[in-house]
Amino acid sequence: MSHGRFDNPVVAAMAGFWDLFRKQDNAKRLTDKDRFDGKKVIITGANSGLGFGLSVEIAKRGGYVIMACRSQIPEAGEMVKKMSGSDKVEMRKLDLSKIESIYEFCNGLVKDQIKPDVTILNAGVALPDARKTESGLEQMFLVNYLSNVMLTNIMFNKGIIDLNNDSKAFKPRIVFISSDSHQGSSYIDYNEFGIFEPYGTSKAIANYSYFKLILNTYATELSRRVNKEKLEVGINVICPGPVHTNIIKEAPWALRMALGGIFKVIFRSPAKASLPVVYMSISDDFKGKSNEYLHMFKNKEMDSKVYIPEEGKKLWERSVKLWKSVDTKAKSLLD
Ligand SMILES: NC(=O)c1ccc[n+]([C@@H]2O[C@H](COP(=O)([O-])OP(=O)(O)OC[C@H]3O[C@@H](n4cnc5c(N)ncnc54)[C@H](OP(=O)(O)O)[C@@H]3O)[C@@H](O)[C@H]2O)c1
Repeated sequence: MSHGRFDNPVVAAMAGFWDLFRKQDNAKRLTDKDRFDGKKVIITGANSGLGFGLSVEIAKRGGYVIMACRSQIPEAGEMVKKMSGSDKVEMRKLDLSKIESIYEFCNGLVKDQIKPDVTILNAGVALPDARKTESGLEQMFLVNYLSNVMLTNIMFNKGIIDLNNDSKAFKPRIVFISSDSHQGSSYIDYNEFGIFEPYGTSKAIANYSYFKLILNTYATELSRRVNKEKLEVGINVICPGPVHTNIIKEAPWALRMALGGIFKVIFRSPAKASLPVVYMSISDDFKGKSNEYLHMFKNKEMDSKVYIPEEGKKLWERSVKLWKSVDTKAKSLLD
């Protein structure tokens, strides 16, 4: 049976608190010269929290920001324009709990000939219980993990992320927003992989970190497959550290009250937390690099299980099989 590092939300929040005291080796390496002029950046879950902070910071640094969101369209985009002083911001509908929405989003990018230089896979949820989506898959598993498999595969398959990019000085980058809480999660349990099972708050907290371990294992395998002979796309993973966001908005009332205080007083603002993600997305320090991991501004290794090639291969195959079982279009796309 799978388990994550934490099953107590207060312990998880306090671990985030101690993380704030860790040495941030690369903090000074991001400078005002790190700019996105002429670059298109897609950010999922950009209407709130970290994604919103990223949108403002990247727009300020000259990027064309595509906010891929399921809600607050167009208000959040208007707010980003106001706060950044840039009008190079647009919002597009993307609901990662609906497979059809992922296709529609990608079709829109193809139609408008948008090929992002940077794709930041940020959207995520921390739900207090299991919820069935229209595909039959559990919502946190789908939004935090499998939708990212679908989105990245469709983007590569439709040429949205360009593999024939030898002439480009800046190779496309994909940044996975993860959590250092993935460390210490169990091996992936394929007996329960993608199967809907009701769960409560403790298991939800454990699943959150366990699904991040699965996400990191996928990111590592994607990098292996895309960058076989030479670097085509920089595919890297980052934990933004503890951030004061809406991530606990679905938690039970009492828990929200308890954690809300910790979040407000101790956790960092989305504006501040966005800076290491900006660094990984644009800095020359990541030129020619893939499968790197940052915990805020600190270079780190992910959990050792993430790097096992057999684990990555098995995860890829099981994810594709699961996807095909819930989506009739997947077969023609993937075979
Ligand atoms: N906050 C932290 O301390 C922390 C620490 C480590 C990692 N992270 C990671 O940071 C990322 C951003 O989270 P956050 O803390 O900024 O929380 P947040 O404020 O709740 O933002 C989450 C974003 O994901 C979007 N989202 C949720 N379900 C979606 C769906 N079905 N389709 C499309 N978008 C969806 C949300 O949209 P709606 O507004 O429509 O719900 C929102 O824009 C997550 O991956 C999270 O795991 C956060």
